[in-house]
Amino acid sequence: MFSWEVLECACQTCNRCRLAETRTNVVVGDGNKKAKILLIGEGPGEKEDLSGIPFVGPAGQLLDKMLDCIGLSREDVYIANVVKCRPPGNRDPETDEKNCCIEYLRYQFALIKPQIILCLGRIAAQSIIDSRFRITKEHGTWYKKKNCWMMATYHPSALLRDESKKKIAFEDLKELKKKIDELDIIKK
Ligand code: URA
Repeated sequence: MFSWEVLECACQTCNRCRLAETRTNVVVGDGNKKAKILLIGEGPGEKEDLSGIPFVGPAGQLLDKMLDCIGLSREDVYIANVVKCRPPGNRDPETDEKNCCIEYLRYQFALIKPQIILCLGRIAAQSIIDSRFRITKEHGTWYKKKNCWMMATYHPSALLRDESKKKIAFEDLKELKKKIDELDIIKK
């Protein structure tokens, strides 16, 4: 069996793909390792690469506000990304980069055993829910796989680019809150 320690060490020393050559830090994840909710983004941006912590830049600040809207904080969730190293210039991660990195995310899933996954944006949804996932059509829809409820909403960076999507994302978050209450997974 593997542990967080082994997994984190493997991530920190990973050289499986070209992103290792340009990264400053590996961004493994953040939040509560005992949380029942796993949030999955796309990959680190500049601020995340510099700090080693996911979602600390402008998108992260919006994500914190989105969580707060439904009464959640980072302590209620664990946050990871499809790729753990920054794609240069914030380009989309390439297929081989995602394939190299997804194994680490699978281990994180196995260690956390989340009851709910929220995919942030298309790249996460296509990696986790369905490779043909269409965010405009399928956001806010629940899927159940491996005994875990999964849903995708717009990536906070997309909401920063197009404020008109915020209302839709808020509806998705309300669905997330409903599911959390239904499963009674946050005891307060
Ligand atoms: N965008 C992401 O998808 N992940 C981060 O960690 C930061 C920005």
